[in-house]
Order: sequence, then structure tokens, then C-alpha cells
Amino acid sequence: PRHFLGLEDVSAATINRILEEATRFRHLVEQPDKKTDTLKGRTVINLFFESSTRTRTSFELAGKRLSADVININASASATQKGETWMDTVRTLEAMTPDALVIRHAESGAPHLAAGALTSHCSVINAGDGAHEHPTQALLDILTIQLHKGPIQGLRVAIVGDTAHSRVARSQIHALHTMGADEVRLIGPKTLIPAAAEEALGVRVFHDADAGLEGVDVIIMLRMQMERIRGAAVPSQREYFRLYGLDRRRVGRAADDVLVMHPGPMNRGVEIASEVADGPYSVILPQVTNGLAIRMAVLKLLAGGESA
Ligand code: CP
Repeated sequence: PRHFLGLEDVSAATINRILEEATRFRHLVEQPDKKTDTLKGRTVINLFFESSTRTRTSFELAGKRLSADVININASASATQKGETWMDTVRTLEAMTPDALVIRHAESGAPHLAAGALTSHCSVINAGDGAHEHPTQALLDILTIQLHKGPIQGLRVAIVGDTAHSRVARSQIHALHTMGADEVRLIGPKTLIPAAAEEALGVRVFHDADAGLEGVDVIIMLRMQMERIRGAAVPSQREYFRLYGLDRRRVGRAADDVLVMHPGPMNRGVEIASEVADGPYSVILPQVTNGLAIRMAVLKLLAGGESA
């Protein structure tokens, strides 16, 4: 497809193709000379209607390392503040003939709407839409797991926290299943687990963190998405840490060589203790580096005129 909007219907072959490109770029990001001419003459516009540190910066760097011209637009400093609809902003930017529009939006489905409205060859890349999907985050997580553990097949992965409001979790669940994970567990209070998750998403649900972490190969911690939680009864931060926070003792329930991950931004002392975030099992910062390689791969394939 010309656009990259989610992982729900993306095949293992397509994911592997992106991972192979990303693995090549992963070597490049640590070289003294980090640039290639791959996207020379191409234009990438990052259009962010919601805050971001990792995704926006890494898409910008990824485009620049590929020699594309990269423009960043932060909605709080754009004409949407003067009453322009976000779709008119998209159409206006398309008229400047970019090759890729990278969109983050608080509403689920916004990048899909934008993709449907474009009339040019421009590709839309979803950088996170509401509680729906964040596909490049899930791919950087898959790359990180593969680089540390080898193939995803046979692994047991626990996603802990607010999976009900998490686009990251939704994309991860699709990608982990497609890539052959043995088991995906969701751990959290009832109010923060998606409705009918076991039937709808093919996962195992645990409300007891110690039981859910037993023997897992990968632990992915999530923050409570307070900006998306409306009306749900949630525990206080202190209570949440007692029930679901990842400390050294809880890591001990998992496999001996467990990988601890977090997409960021993390809330230390709420979902994860500093001793774990900064500890020997943590790959939280390598996730960020791998994200750069994944975004280079996705931009190369889409802004470079190939379909992913
Ligand atoms: N993981 C992630 O999407 O982080 P940002 O919100 O900082 O982009």
C-alpha cells in the first residue's frame, strides 16, 4: 500500500521487509557519517496535532539522515489556531507537493481520513492516532525484541498497564501475533483493559500482576493515558504502583533473561521503578535508537516511491 496507517492487516512479509531495511539502517545510525542520499530531492512533512518527543524527533532525524527536505509543523503554532480545519491544513500542505505526510492526531482514524482525501502521490504515515494505532512504535519494539532475543516465534510477552487507551498496545498486539508470538498477556485493572480483550484481540488477561508476569520473556510497561481516560475509575498513583508497578521483585517473576521495555514517555514511580528502568534488563533507550532506524526504513519505502 501507498500509505502506512496501521498494522492490523499488514502481513509478516511486509513487516519483515521493513525490518530488513531497518536492520541495515541500524548500522548506519552509529557511524560517524550517518547520511545517505536515498531521499535526496524528496520532501517529508511532519504534521503533529498532539505532543511528541520521540516520534517527531526521530521522523525528523530519519528524513534528514536520508537527505530528504524535512518540515515540522506543530499544530499549536499553525493556522488551525485561527479556525482552519485540520483537513484544510492537510490539503494546504499537500498543495506544496510533499512525498510523505507524517501525521499524529488525538482522534482515532484521522490519518485514514487524510489519506482518503489526498489526490496526489503523497504517502500518509500514521505517527499515532488517538487510542487506535501507532505502527512505527510497534515495529521498533519488534526490532528491539529481535535484536536481543532473535525471532518473535515462541516468545511470551506481557503488556502491563493501560491497554484500553493505548494505540501502542493495539499495534503491538497485531504485530506480535503476525510475527508468531506464543502468547500476548495484558495485565492491568479491569477499567484499563479493552472490553472483551481475550475474544476480540486473542490475548490472555490478568488482573494480578505477579501471576501475569510469571515466566514471560518480554515485559512492556505502559503509562496511564490520563489524556484519554474519561470517567474510568482508576487507582491513585501510589495504589497503582503497589498493584502494577514494575520493581525488582516483580521482574523476578519473569524469565531469567527477560527484556524490560517502555515506549515512553514513562512515569517513574507510577508504572516503573527507576531501579528497573535504568537496570540491567531495560532496553528503553535502545528502543529509541531502533526507532530511528525503523522510521528511516518506512520513509525510504514510502517517500522513496516504493510501497511498503
Ligand atoms: N512513544 C512515543 O510515541 O513517544 P512520543 O509521544 O514522545 O512520540
